[in-house]
Order: sequence, then structure tokens, then C-alpha cells
Amino acid sequence: MTRPLLVSPSILAADFARLGDDVRAVDEAGADWIHIDVMDGHFVPNISFGLPVIEAIRPLTRKPFDVHLMISPVDRYLEAFARAGADIITVHAEATSHLDRSLQQIRTLGKKAGVSLNPATPASVLKHVLDRLDLILVMTVNPGFGGQSFMPAMIEKIAEIREMVRGRAIDIEVDGGITRANAADVVRAGANVLVAGSAIFRAREYAAEIHAIRTAATSIAA
Ligand code: DX5
Ligand code: ZN
Repeated sequence: MTRPLLVSPSILAADFARLGDDVRAVDEAGADWIHIDVMDGHFVPNISFGLPVIEAIRPLTRKPFDVHLMISPVDRYLEAFARAGADIITVHAEATSHLDRSLQQIRTLGKKAGVSLNPATPASVLKHVLDRLDLILVMTVNPGFGGQSFMPAMIEKIAEIREMVRGRAIDIEVDGGITRANAADVVRAGANVLVAGSAIFRAREYAAEIHAIRTAATSIAA
């Protein structure tokens, strides 16, 4: 099964003083989803933004909100993120003691359920929750900060996950250091959703950059 290629700009790299304008701008520039990084200063060594910010930008675009929760504990906040406007809610396997329960809770809320894996976490943790999943987010940097370099060792993990999910309606998303230079490599390995923060928001033309990433990614399509 071939999943559609999607680009999900991470607003962590947006200009927070004009966040609404940036959300509208990437929407118009061709973003498929809006990637929203929530960090708690506990699960990851950085704090970003939370519920009120998501609520504030929700009316500005109809694009799906791809919410990446880097928070622990996480279960007690899932309902609030669903209400704030998340369409896809991704939790870290390392941030919940009961991954199966967290995923069930997300689907019960009527949202798509994602699991994210830190670079050091093996793909095998996904094996017994595949039926509960809509998306797997392979971190290609250690989570917590934008602007880090892509870790090539994650290519092997993406390929392993691609084999694991074959035949299922599960998106494979990559996040961290994604640029037009490595888009083809991650897609060749099996990813179909590309998160990009600094590559897009530091570009002069958001549309041109999104287009360049998409073109690089689809140029290898088999
Ligand atoms: C890192 C975040 C990423 C980050 C990506 O913890 O999950 O989404 O914003 O930023 P870039 O594309 O700059 O690596
Ligand atoms: Zn992210």
C-alpha cells in the first residue's frame, strides 16, 4: 500500500511574534498538515507552548493539526489536546507506561493515534500495538530542539518499520533535520510524512521550499 506523500511544517521554527500569520502562510504555501511540537521541560529539556496556543491558531486553517506531544505524563492531557483542535495526537513510547492505553484513549476521543520513538528506542516496541496506530513518528534527532542535524542511522529504523507495517493504513513520519537534501533518502526507506521546521521557516519563500522538499521526495517514487 502506498501512502500519500505529505509535508508537515513544524511551527516550532515559526516567528512566535506573528504565529498566526506564519500558520496562514504555510497553509497557503502548500502544507498538508501543521506540525505542532509541545514540550514540557521534563520529558525533553525544553519548553515550547501548550493548549492556549493551539486553540488560538485552530481557526486560522483547515489543515489537520499534527500534534507531537513531548510531555510526560501524557494521558491526563489527551482530552484537552483533542478539544483544543488536534487531529492527530502523537505520544512518545518513552513517555507513557501504558502505551496501549494511551493509544486507545486517543482513538476513543475520535482522533488519529500516533507513536513517536526517540533515536535510541527500537522499532520492536511497536510490535504489539500496530492495530491501535494510525501513525508512527520516527525521530531523526533527539527531541527537544529544532535546527539539529538529521541522524542517518535512523534510515535503517524507518526501513524496519516499513516492513513491520506493510499492508496496514499507517503513516510513517520523520521529524528532525529534514531538508530537500535528505527527503529522498527517508522516502526511499519508507517514510511518507515529512516534518520540517527550520528548513521551511528559515527559507525566504515557504512555498518554494515546501515544493522543493516535495519534489525531492517524489523524484524517487517507485
Ligand atoms: C524536535 C521537534 C521537531 C522540530 C524539527 O523535537 O519534534 O518537530 O521542530 O525541527 P527541524 O526541522 O528544524 O529539525
Ligand atoms: Zn515534532
